[in-house]
Amino acid sequence: MPVEMLTENPPEIANQFEADLVWVSKQSLMPGRQYRMRLASKEVSATVTAIKYRTDINTGARLAARTLNTNESGRVNLYTSDPLVFEDKDNKDDLKFVLIDQQTGDTVGSGMMVFVLRRATNLQWQVLEIDKAARAVQKQQTPKCIWFTGLSGSGKSTIANLLEKHLHQGNKHTYLLDGDNIRHGLCRDLGFTEADRVENIRRVSEVAKLMVDAGLIVLVSFISPFRSERRMARELFAAGEFIEVFIDTNLNECERRDVKGLYAKARSGALKNFTGIDSPYEPPESPEIHIQTSLLSPLEAVKDIVKQL
Ligand code: ADX
Repeated sequence: MPVEMLTENPPEIANQFEADLVWVSKQSLMPGRQYRMRLASKEVSATVTAIKYRTDINTGARLAARTLNTNESGRVNLYTSDPLVFEDKDNKDDLKFVLIDQQTGDTVGSGMMVFVLRRATNLQWQVLEIDKAARAVQKQQTPKCIWFTGLSGSGKSTIANLLEKHLHQGNKHTYLLDGDNIRHGLCRDLGFTEADRVENIRRVSEVAKLMVDAGLIVLVSFISPFRSERRMARELFAAGEFIEVFIDTNLNECERRDVKGLYAKARSGALKNFTGIDSPYEPPESPEIHIQTSLLSPLEAVKDIVKQL
């Protein structure tokens, strides 16, 4: 891949970089997760897209790594939401940055830009003449992403299914992306570690975005346990296009139902990283729609959602 030393050429504008990073957070680095990046001149969202290597503190050896833990350092690829401009690349202070957790505001890492990755600058956005608005007009609908989040067994898929049926009968053009199904294809290489879930949600939100661009009303039914990734998904869409629906069923009730027998397996220790048991679920703080399944039947839930859409 063609790369260029940041310190050798005239002002540089780019949104992909190779950088040296020292990780300080107690929580491991999550490739694919958005962090705030603060540089001398600017603040942007940044994602680590790849870890090239981790550096062994004692020997300096370059080791393969899937994450960086507290006080580990290494070389990473970075993607920033907005392009960065480096006016004076001899000024090392301009190349330094810190990464900040979007939820807590804590500094999680610090680093220094090393290379600009040319891959981004050689890629252009192809402007297509038939756009989202044209497709939406043809379908006589407003494209949307209706994002269901909740514990396994909370009723997300049941309610999303019924909602899709309702919309379909009303001549709407829809598609339902369901966690269990997508994990058989597009995401079949992913498991249930935190890092894999981050990547799972990143992929499905990009797919949902394409489908909304195609003019569809897309229903997404994934546990999507982390606020960071739900927020990342939201940021892909225009204002009002992303509707977060919290299917709120308490853990005891999900476990009592245990339709797939997975809670029993998780309790017995046969299934690791199970959401709600030994993997966290972060409930939405301000979802557009909040469904408490203890108060509503699935059909009533759908009516409630339709009213609020
Ligand atoms: S997510 O956390 O990455 O959003 P996703 O919605 O794709 O999860 O998949 C959840 C489904 O996978 C659950 O409904 C359940 O059937 C199954 N599953 C298998 N193992 C696990 C696990 N460790 N944690 C949660 N769900 C699991």
